Amino acid sequence: MDSISFILFGSTGDLAKRKIYPALYNLFIEKSMPQSFSVIGLGRRDWSHEEFQRNVEDAVYTFSRSSVDKETMEQFLQSFRYHSLDLTEREGYDQLLKVVQERENELNIVENRMIYLSVSPKLFDIAISNIEKSGLTDTKGWKRLIIEKPFGHDLESARELNRRISTVFEEKEIYRIDHYLGKPMVQNIEALEHSNPVLQALWNKEYIANMQITASEIVGVESRAGYYDKVGAIRDMVQNHILQLLMMTSMHLPHEMNAENVRNQKKKVMESLRPLTKANVAKEVIRGQYGPGVINDENVPGYLDEEGIPAGSRNDTFIAARLWIDNDFWEGVPFYIRTGKRMKEKSTRIVIEFKSPEGKNRFEDENLAPNLLIIEISPNKGVTLQLNSKNSLNNGKLEPVHINFSKDQSDLPEAYELLIADAIKGDQTYFAHWNEVELSWQWVQPILETYEEDTAPLHIYEAGSMGPKAANELINKEGFRWW
Ligand code: BG6
Repeated sequence: MDSISFILFGSTGDLAKRKIYPALYNLFIEKSMPQSFSVIGLGRRDWSHEEFQRNVEDAVYTFSRSSVDKETMEQFLQSFRYHSLDLTEREGYDQLLKVVQERENELNIVENRMIYLSVSPKLFDIAISNIEKSGLTDTKGWKRLIIEKPFGHDLESARELNRRISTVFEEKEIYRIDHYLGKPMVQNIEALEHSNPVLQALWNKEYIANMQITASEIVGVESRAGYYDKVGAIRDMVQNHILQLLMMTSMHLPHEMNAENVRNQKKKVMESLRPLTKANVAKEVIRGQYGPGVINDENVPGYLDEEGIPAGSRNDTFIAARLWIDNDFWEGVPFYIRTGKRMKEKSTRIVIEFKSPEGKNRFEDENLAPNLLIIEISPNKGVTLQLNSKNSLNNGKLEPVHINFSKDQSDLPEAYELLIADAIKGDQTYFAHWNEVELSWQWVQPILETYEEDTAPLHIYEAGSMGPKAANELINKEGFRWW
């Protein structure tokens, strides 16, 4: 494995603490880190190396999925150095380059540099510009950029950001994080389809009645009012995570699973996605906002009463939509998506509902449940197949039964572990290509404009419910229901 320098912008931030350091630690104990690596943490705080190391240590103790061994921790921390930097100030970057080079010399490592931008998107532009001027990217080895979401605020700003980044990094050097692509069960979708002829044979419009993607959350806006009120569920979840799940479930399986093929197939899905027009947004997309309600026996306030939310905000905290993929594979199969805050349960899952043969069941039982393939992504992880079977204990009635495999939650790697490990290896399969990001924004753009003009209804739903009634009506139109 190549030796490597991580240059981490945003090293004192929340994401670094909760996700990045625990991921690095777990990779370290699993020997998935290169033998020699250097982490240079950057932030505005005036920390010493020791203070930084203690913070990393605390973060790993608090958030790591595996237990921490003191001795291993000490070895791990030896790779960490801190450099105080105001990333808007050009001058500090010369010093940074020196620090990076010094460590490379000390450790005798090749100049493979992974620049990790985990900062506010407002700073992306200036950081990239200063990185470019600093010489950090003139390396003898490789250079890569890991960049966190949000990648743009709309189609135009995403294009602008990409133009900016592309002046310094080539597409093959850019790793756009969508942490949903790092979830083990999302990475399992292709394998499930690929390795099971039974499923592969049925994975198309002939046998599938509809597909449903749900990402419901119990939490509300939390302390992120300033961010969330400007983005809503449409930008926070749909443009990235949900559309990525849609691509992963509906792409045509490539002959060989590699980054180029997978990303090409995903792009094709997005190119076939039926575009929305502002005229039909209200019909195809339901937006909701949570009102007050009860969750886990506790009264919770409505969105408008949350701290920091401007009076009368029309922001969407829930989105449901019906999508069509106009290609030979999926013609006529509706894809339903829904996501929201303050819903009844935390659950991310994909449900594939199979057709009944010729519309009729041999047993003429109107209540016969459809066959379902349920892929539970989080917090539960597993796959369930719903079949029908005769229950001799109940007068031989047909009843749904579930063939179920579920994964012990604790031993699965975290999304960030899988993603960082891939970035180190140079494998872009589970990172969003620019084409996907651009086409996703393109699909979402008429929705953004409609909401900007406020010409679609905003449905208030009770906190603790599964969203507004209108979302049920949307799916009932074709005679289906949410699973
Ligand atoms: C983030 C969103 O990208 O994903 C959050 O900004 C959301 O609002 C989170 O809560 C959900 O991720 P997960 O992994 O908990 O489903």
